[in-house]
Amino acid sequence: MNTNYSIIGKMIRHNPEFSLKAARAFTRMHTATVIDRKFGKGKTKKLALVYFRITPLCNLRCLMCNQRGTNGVLNGAFAAKEAKKIVPVERYYRLVDELAAKDKPMFYMWGGEPFLYPGFMDLAEYITTKKCMLSVNTNGTFLEQNAERIVKNGWHALFVSLDGFRDVNDKIRGDGSYDKVVAGFKAINEAKKKYNSHLPYMGIVTTVSNMNYEYLDQLVAASRDFDLAWHIINLGTYTNKDIIAEQRVFMKDKLDCDIKCLEGFDTGFNAGIDGQKFSEILKKVHALKPGYPIITVPAINPDGITEYYADLAKVVRKECPVPWSQVNFDYNGNVHFCADYPDYIIGNIMDNDFYDIWNGERAAKFRQVLKASPNGLFPGCVRCYQNMLFGKKVKGY
Ligand SMILES: C[S@@+](CC[C@H](N)C(=O)[O-])C[C@H]1O[C@@H](n2cnc3c(N)ncnc32)[C@H](O)[C@@H]1O
Ligand code: SF4
Repeated sequence: MNTNYSIIGKMIRHNPEFSLKAARAFTRMHTATVIDRKFGKGKTKKLALVYFRITPLCNLRCLMCNQRGTNGVLNGAFAAKEAKKIVPVERYYRLVDELAAKDKPMFYMWGGEPFLYPGFMDLAEYITTKKCMLSVNTNGTFLEQNAERIVKNGWHALFVSLDGFRDVNDKIRGDGSYDKVVAGFKAINEAKKKYNSHLPYMGIVTTVSNMNYEYLDQLVAASRDFDLAWHIINLGTYTNKDIIAEQRVFMKDKLDCDIKCLEGFDTGFNAGIDGQKFSEILKKVHALKPGYPIITVPAINPDGITEYYADLAKVVRKECPVPWSQVNFDYNGNVHFCADYPDYIIGNIMDNDFYDIWNGERAAKFRQVLKASPNGLFPGCVRCYQNMLFGKKVKGY
């Protein structure tokens, strides 16, 4: 659990240029956190990481998914209706130009399933030709047919979701999805050999739930031959009705904002996760020594795992730094800071230039309110993935 930074050494060995760019972005993130957060009066100079939730559509229906799962807020006919509002690719080209000319942030594309955005491969190529780092988070089911172009275009990183070995994964993510992902890994590795390329670095992201936590070792054992660079074990975003109610009142009161996204995380798939048993499984997982780092997000003290799942209001990370260096572009052009909670909109790229939005009045207000909130968090942020990655560790966790 304390090995979360071991990935850096491996990256430096394989690709010093990539590592230098990543280090520069993280330094920028750190400066924004320390200086702009403290003194910036809601403004910031450093944009290091940009997310694109580029489409609301998905070809899978993973059970725990806050968007398309059993309790998803972007379900069925609603997603199809929303898909009519997607940003045309020409606007994204202009946005990439703006970003590449000024901050050259890292790009992180996700969705829905990003490959379902029309023109996705062309947009990805455009980003890499601008010498920006491109990471893509995908369910992996479209990798096989796109492998050659992904490698030729020099994508930097692929974060591929798998939630267990075949049967466990397919019960959560749908029949046949495991084998499709494995075929995608194989095709990428073949293309890397053919073009003599280290890129893209490729790793698994596993979202933990009561459906898979007891079987994670089976997935790690099965993945050893996929030539991976990491395996991220995402402890998952969970919430409950009390936290949602508190967040609703807080956001209305402080930011005049109505919330709807948090409800997608009230899935109940945290119920019954036994911290002791989970720690034992993680020990087994690390003992397998697959040759690449296994990274839990958050990196949490084993003694805190039971509380992480049972007491969802318990703060384990605080003082969220995200709005000072990161931003998310939603499929409809809305801009917001919190990738998973796109309730508070700071602007829309169909109406304004991005840099007017980034330090506009609404953005500054959000930053000021967040900074002044207890623990530097809103009530609903307690298990947010970005906060788990970038927030400050609370003692004991
Ligand atoms: C919403 S998906 C979008 C990208 C792509 N469709 C995929 O599955 O990777 C992004 C990541 O969120 C994870 N995820 C889904 N539901 C979640 C939840 N309730 N809590 C935390 N992460 C979740 C997915 O497993 C995936 O790794
Ligand atoms: S593939 Fe991704 S977006 Fe689609 S349902 Fe699964 S987790 Fe959600």
